Amino acid sequence: MSTLITNIAELMTQDLEHRVLKNAAMVVEGERIAWLGAAASAPAADEAVDAGGRAVLPGWVDSHTHLVFAGDRTAEFEARMAGEQYSAGGIAVTVDATRRASDFDLTRLAMARVSEAVSLGTTYLETKTGYGLDTEHEARSARIASTVADEVTYLGAHLVPTGLDADAYTDLVCGPMLDAVRPYVRWADVFCEKGAFTAEQSRRVLRACRDAGLGIRVHGNQLGEGPGVQLATELGAASVDHVNYLASQDVAALADSWTGWDPSTGTGARGTVATCLPACDLSTRQPLPPARALLDAGVQVALASNCNPGTSYTSSMAFCVATAVLQMRLSVHEAVRAATYGGALALHRETGNDADGERAVGSLAVGHRADVHMLNAPSATHLAYRPGMPLTYAVWRAGVRAR
Ligand code: NIG
Repeated sequence: MSTLITNIAELMTQDLEHRVLKNAAMVVEGERIAWLGAAASAPAADEAVDAGGRAVLPGWVDSHTHLVFAGDRTAEFEARMAGEQYSAGGIAVTVDATRRASDFDLTRLAMARVSEAVSLGTTYLETKTGYGLDTEHEARSARIASTVADEVTYLGAHLVPTGLDADAYTDLVCGPMLDAVRPYVRWADVFCEKGAFTAEQSRRVLRACRDAGLGIRVHGNQLGEGPGVQLATELGAASVDHVNYLASQDVAALADSWTGWDPSTGTGARGTVATCLPACDLSTRQPLPPARALLDAGVQVALASNCNPGTSYTSSMAFCVATAVLQMRLSVHEAVRAATYGGALALHRETGNDADGERAVGSLAVGHRADVHMLNAPSATHLAYRPGMPLTYAVWRAGVRAR
């Protein structure tokens, strides 16, 4: 079954050549993109969809979410808006509610959050454990996450549970807990921050998880300058997420990590992606990360929602893109790239075509996964020009119409 999507005013491919085609069309065949180019030379297909002069871009790749949770933290949010500081300790409130929820409820809640994200244009999504924090509940969260998300990250090292010794808990995270989650996860993460895990504890977790065959990433430099970025680049993490407080040596370390990579061909040794989470920063009143400086230094940047009950209860990638343009000084093309190709790069899913087992996500090119986001607007500029407006018009996820 093939579908011709034609009469596209602007087709922002986010491919390696950064092509933006005007008066374009594309053909989706099964789960893949079979053709794209000028509407006037489009081939025939089994069915046709008239885009009506709308813009088309890749579906969002949300590379950082925490969707497996129960409970509510409205009171904490209200206190924060009244002047309280965010602290990692709030995580314990969600851990308590999550442990008490049934499998059925936890699955239903996570599925509903994924559906909400897809309805807003997200077509590829990572989610984490981290609200179980004992072997039984981390394994349960990982199992449930693996049924609802494209990529699952083990975040047993999210917070040291109250009353436990930090080093003894780190041993558990590196040992029996890791063994229990291992069948369900591809990634591991650690919250390397004052009030969570020290550099040494974080290093131990990341090494153990890497030795177990997992890709690694780090929550770092969210609440103050700290060792997160240096640790992530030292260990070759796929991403370091938050990056609000960066010293000049942190920017340099991230830039250095990309020197072996050729962005024009997408080949060579990948570095560490700096993942910015602006919705979280607004909700916690932290400074926005220096994304402009990172891009200018040659760092690959991703934008993600960080959807979670404590610091960022939104899965709207369009909101993140608008914020990146309006307040972080990215161009619309750069912001959309960070929310699509950048996320794919952070998840090592930016390559792959007909010859490979996995198809690339986060960009539109022949052989890539047909993850397509049509806006109810003639250009992607409207994402920032009309912030907060419901611009998602249609979504295809792996070639299947999802909205
Ligand atoms: O990414 N920083 C650590 N983890 C989450 C917050 C989780 C919570 O407060 O529940 C974050 O912001």
